[in-house]
Amino acid sequence: MNTEDLGKSKILNLLFKPAGMMMGSKLRAWLMSPVKTLQGAGIEPGQTILEVGCGTGFFTIPAAKLIGDEGCLVAMDPSAGYIEQVSRKVHGAGLTNVRVVRRDALDTKLDTASMDRVLLFGVIPFPLLPLNRLLPEMHRVLKPEGTLAVWLFPPRVHFWVPKSILQSGMFSYAGKKNGVYNYRRG
Ligand SMILES: C[S@@+](CC[C@H](N)C(=O)[O-])C[C@H]1O[C@@H](n2cnc3c(N)ncnc32)[C@H](O)[C@@H]1O
Repeated sequence: MNTEDLGKSKILNLLFKPAGMMMGSKLRAWLMSPVKTLQGAGIEPGQTILEVGCGTGFFTIPAAKLIGDEGCLVAMDPSAGYIEQVSRKVHGAGLTNVRVVRRDALDTKLDTASMDRVLLFGVIPFPLLPLNRLLPEMHRVLKPEGTLAVWLFPPRVHFWVPKSILQSGMFSYAGKKNGVYNYRRG
C-alpha cells in the first residue's frame, strides 16, 4: 500500500478518528508531559529532527519549541486528516521551523545522514511500520552521530521491541531517560 492509499483507506480513517481524539485529549496532556518525554530523547536547540507518525501533533509543537528557530523538525504521517490538523496547529503557534509532510516513513525521501534525532514516539510496534523496513530507513537518514529515540505505549506490553532494535545490528543502546529508549546509530 502506498502513502496515497494509506491516507485514503476507509478502514484506517475510521480507526484514526477515535485514535486521534485520544491522542490529542486533555486527559493525555494532564497525565503526561510531552516536554519531559522529549527531554528524555535529548532534544536540544538547533537540532534537525524527524518525528515519525506525528498523529495529531501531541509532541510536534513542544518539540518545535525546544529546538527553536535554528532547528528544523520534519513531522511525518501518512494520514491526510492528521497532517491537516498538525499544519493548522503549527501555523496557529506561529512556528516556522516545522515541515509537516504526508508520507510513509518506510520511504521518507529525506537526504541520507541529515537528521540529528529520529523520534519513534508511540508508533511502534505497528503493522504499517514493520521494524525490518523501518529501521534501515531510520539508519539511513540519521547522521553518523545521530540517535534514535523510542517511546513505547503502553510501556511494558512491547517489552520485546528494544531487543529487536538491538538485534537489527544497526543501533547500540545509549540509555533510557523519562521512559525514552535511546540508541546510537551503529
Ligand atoms: C498511535 S499514533 C501516535 C501518534 C503520535 N506519535 C502521538 O504519540 O500522539 C501512530 C501514528 O503512526 C502513524 N503511522 C502509521 N503508519 C505510518 C507510516 N507508515 N509512516 C509514518 N507514520 C505512520 C499513524 O498515522 C498515527 O498517526
